[in-house]
Amino acid sequence: MTIRADKRDLVEERFKSLVMAISDYAIYLLDVNGNVASWNAGAERFKGYTADEIIGQHFSRFYTAEDRAAGVPTRALLTAAKEGRFESEGWRVRKDGTRFWASVVIDAVRNDANKVIGFAKVTRDITDRKVAEDALRESEQRFRLLIQGVTDYAIYMLSPSGEVTNWNSGAERIKQYKSSEIVGQNFSVFYTERDRERGVPQQALANAAKNGRYESEGVRVRKDKTEFWAHVIVDAIYDEDRELIGFAKVTRDITERRQAAKALDEAKDALFQSQKMEAIGQLTGGISHDFNNLLAVIANSLDILSIKGLVPEAAHLVESMRRAVDRGSLLTQQLLAFARQQPLKPELTNVNELISAFESVLRRAGRVNIRFEFSLLPDLRAVMIDGPRLEAALLNLVVNARDALEEGGTIRISTRNVALTDGQVGRLHGGDYVVLEVRDTGSGMPPEVLARAFDPFFTTKGIGKGTGLGLSQVYGFITQSDGEVVISSELDRGTTVAIYLRAETAKPDSVGQDPVLTQTVLVVEDEPDLLAVAAELFENIGYRVLRASSGEDALALLDSEPDVTLLFSDVMMPGGMSGVELARASRDRNPDLKVLLASGYPVQALRNKHEGIDEFAFVAKPYRLSDLTSKVSALAN
Ligand SMILES: Nc1ncnc2c1ncn2[C@@H]1O[C@H](COP(=O)(O)OP(=O)(O)OP(=O)(O)O)[C@@H](O)[C@H]1O
Ligand SMILES: [Mg+2]
Repeated sequence: MTIRADKRDLVEERFKSLVMAISDYAIYLLDVNGNVASWNAGAERFKGYTADEIIGQHFSRFYTAEDRAAGVPTRALLTAAKEGRFESEGWRVRKDGTRFWASVVIDAVRNDANKVIGFAKVTRDITDRKVAEDALRESEQRFRLLIQGVTDYAIYMLSPSGEVTNWNSGAERIKQYKSSEIVGQNFSVFYTERDRERGVPQQALANAAKNGRYESEGVRVRKDKTEFWAHVIVDAIYDEDRELIGFAKVTRDITERRQAAKALDEAKDALFQSQKMEAIGQLTGGISHDFNNLLAVIANSLDILSIKGLVPEAAHLVESMRRAVDRGSLLTQQLLAFARQQPLKPELTNVNELISAFESVLRRAGRVNIRFEFSLLPDLRAVMIDGPRLEAALLNLVVNARDALEEGGTIRISTRNVALTDGQVGRLHGGDYVVLEVRDTGSGMPPEVLARAFDPFFTTKGIGKGTGLGLSQVYGFITQSDGEVVISSELDRGTTVAIYLRAETAKPDSVGQDPVLTQTVLVVEDEPDLLAVAAELFENIGYRVLRASSGEDALALLDSEPDVTLLFSDVMMPGGMSGVELARASRDRNPDLKVLLASGYPVQALRNKHEGIDEFAFVAKPYRLSDLTSKVSALAN
């Protein structure tokens, strides 16, 4: 298609005036050397020059001094000449010296012979856009700095597949990785091995992608493999097209907060436990006192019945009633122990010596498939404690350990000194303590058993196998002695019961020989049941007991056992020798021997037949433990 010349001129003319009128763009021509050849309204508006002023001037004056010195204008033309077009953005200078941000396109203009004859230049003032962009960039920068500076929270981003893409100083502080070590790695390294195996990290991202946000708490792992309790929020980030471009993750270390909450819970539990023990203690204490008095009446009456032989035809009934009474009074003793109401005789005691002296009894409580270990600290401090009761407590613990060692294993009994701070162990005040520990490798206790183990009558053992009073007795006795008992137990691993007793200031080696523990009594009684009861009573108050059922036997024993310090004898015995005669003969052999006589008859009634009975201490039958202890201690003084 050809256009007629006149028509073409017309078109060009129109086009030219259109260009000249455009005011939003500076559109002008440069000659091949870069001098301004034409100028439009937009150029005048942006740059402040009129056409007259600028035509023929070199275009480099629109550039900043620095750009000119760096040869930017020349390079722009060279690029346009070589590649046909040059595009850039940059600062330009107006006539009045002010700057504006320009978007510039330079096109090379060629003649028919394809030779560059000049350049067409289109410039736009985009200062406003530039300012807005700069402001945005700056605010992003500030935001980044802000996030970077946050140290209480780990704030970082993940790619859609979970690779860490950036890292703030909180992340470095909490997770210990430097940015250079972690960026590019998958965030699953922060999870425990178990969580990784279960796919927890992926689930977190999938959840966040689905719901936009995912919040959770759990264990996380630091670089040094230590664990902490984390609160985590994952936000999914989408672009304008709702395409997932990654995740923002905020993690907080709430280990301390969690520990504080846990400590509070434990304190509440402990309070509940001690209030419960207090309440049960008061109840059992009240009941057992009354019950014990009832038993005492029955026991005394039974003793009188059998001593006087009043109902010979029912002797076996009396006998079984007596056994029932004995069993009942043992139970009430245990209950009184739990209620912290049993009479205690604390004495300065070296627990190691007590254990050693008691070792054979403890071993006998074991079984062939149970190994005993004793680990007694040589410099153990002394404690004030009722020795025989502590032995009973220890025996209870060993029996429990044995019962837990169905398949065999080890019972380890150990002692050591510890210094405690206030509240470190139960209600104990700070100070020096002795710990006596019985540890077994047995079945352990599930938490619900552990929680009730001290409760009286709580037992998991079959009917007739356990009364559930063992631990409650230990608990009552030790707390009555101002100590504390702590059980720790793990199912299938074993149980440790630790008894804490306040250490006395006296050195252990200054502890005197316990007078009660080392003394020997010779009990003489022709009635075998009474002999057994009396022997048991003396054992209970810590004596070594020798038995004889007649005066003659007793004298023979005295000859072979020079350690006997106390003779306890019935007055009326069948056969030759009476209790008073035995007492005299024994005194002849050992003038220091202490003597206590007993009879079911009043002492006035005995005086006629048994001359000299008043030389000796006397206790009326039936006697109770407290009668014996008061008579014996009167003898000692
Ligand atoms: N060493 C231990 N290992 C595992 N469980 C134990 C241990 N000691 C105690 N228990 C649990 O605590 C319960 C209560 O113990 P506790 O000594 O008070 O009573 P018992 O042994 O059942 O009966 P009792 O001691 O009166 O004969 C036991 O039944 C047992 O379930
Ligand atoms: Mg028990």
